[in-house]
Amino acid sequence: MNRQLIVAGNWKMNKNLMEAFTLASGVLAKAKKMSNKVEIVLAPPAPYLHTINSMSKNIAHVNIAAQNCHFEPSGAYTGEVSAEILHSMDIAYVILGHSERRKYFQENHEILAKKVSAAIRAGVKIIFCCGEPLEVRESNTQESFVLQQLEESLFHLSETEMKQVVVAYEPIWAIGTGKTASPAQAQDMHAFIRTQVATKYTTELADACSILYGGSCKPSNAAELFAEKDVDGALVGGASLKAEDFLQIIQARAKQA
Ligand code: 13P
Repeated sequence: MNRQLIVAGNWKMNKNLMEAFTLASGVLAKAKKMSNKVEIVLAPPAPYLHTINSMSKNIAHVNIAAQNCHFEPSGAYTGEVSAEILHSMDIAYVILGHSERRKYFQENHEILAKKVSAAIRAGVKIIFCCGEPLEVRESNTQESFVLQQLEESLFHLSETEMKQVVVAYEPIWAIGTGKTASPAQAQDMHAFIRTQVATKYTTELADACSILYGGSCKPSNAAELFAEKDVDGALVGGASLKAEDFLQIIQARAKQA
């Protein structure tokens, strides 16, 4: 397998400044000594990006992600952060398409397509989230639901641009609920996504595309998820807020590297 293994922690809107510093310090102190086969990504709230990026600079297998960006490069958009600003701060990734952004901030396919293009334009890599709500899973139409998310917001990219994208499959019914997709459910959807990438682009690109699982990933279930051949890593929410839990998930990935 020639694709990058990644464990990413999405802190969402959690941790005050001191807590964020403590969490980042705790993760980085151990990360330094861990296998460089696993790329570790930290996605803290925006105000901490610069500091945590500086703290992680000397560890080559650690990168930092923003949780959002605007689609315009600059301008009168009070409160927003552009991909160009992130690039100027040397932030490697931006998470786009998270279900919480879709739900609470009305980010539809069209807005997300613009944000995806903006990140590529600025030279910021993307962690693109997709995933279905419970009613879609119950009606067994999750594949067409996820395909539409990919087609409408991601597949306008060229082959070269698509190489800058990591996909995260995050079934909404598993986010913050304690209910994880079974390894088989995760594998089925990851394989489906990879096939779609191969169909739209090339088999080589699909084989090299990292696809992460997100949704109540924790130390107790990480190893079984990572045992699936198309699960290249995880996008972790709640369990990334405790250094010990997050580090255990990274270890689980490293053990199967
Ligand atoms: P939880 O791990 O808390 O379910 O969150 C997953 C997620 O939304 C990561 O982006």
